[in-house]
Amino acid sequence: MSAQVPGEIILTHDQIQGRVAEMAGEVSVDYAGRDPLIIGILKGAVFFTADLVREMSIPCEFDFMAVSSYGSATHSSGVVRITKDLDTAIEGRHVLVVEDVIDSGRTLRYLMRNLASREPASLEVCALLAKPAADRLDLRTRYVGFRLPDVFVVGYGLDVDERHRELPYIAKLGDATGA
Ligand code: IMP
Ligand code: MG
Repeated sequence: MSAQVPGEIILTHDQIQGRVAEMAGEVSVDYAGRDPLIIGILKGAVFFTADLVREMSIPCEFDFMAVSSYGSATHSSGVVRITKDLDTAIEGRHVLVVEDVIDSGRTLRYLMRNLASREPASLEVCALLAKPAADRLDLRTRYVGFRLPDVFVVGYGLDVDERHRELPYIAKLGDATGA
């Protein structure tokens, strides 16, 4: 397998921070007085969740869930397993699920069904990135940071085979061999 390295930067750290602050502003208005429970999906949404809640001007609680989606490094299969569940009961809570990227939307569709069965008062999605296919699954995604074409990206939490999550920007994935 060839080593894959980050290529062209498509979202700089400043662009990401600016948009996250805007989204946090919208969330703060929409959830004022509702004591939302923010659920970050590990590991990809870890930085987005951390930045979002710190930019919000209303109090919230947050928790994390981890899921593993079977498939290749770059395509999810839609068969999802919860590897870390919530610490908190969500019944009657206003829940906002924070995701890194919606590609096919299969991971999120599974998660939303699972969380809806726990009877939250409301359940919405805040995704940093959405790719074109995401629209086809008819997922209600209340907040989307950036719409991307069908490219594979890394950085700001996003990985390929667990690499490049630590980058402060989002870059297209290149290929070291150029092959
Ligand atoms: P979906 O189930 O096809 O929507 O895929 C969602 C999951 O696949 C995300 O939570 C990521 O873990 C991963 N994923 C999809 N696209 C990308 C990408 O461009 N870079 C890194 N991970 C991605
Ligand atoms: Mg991944």
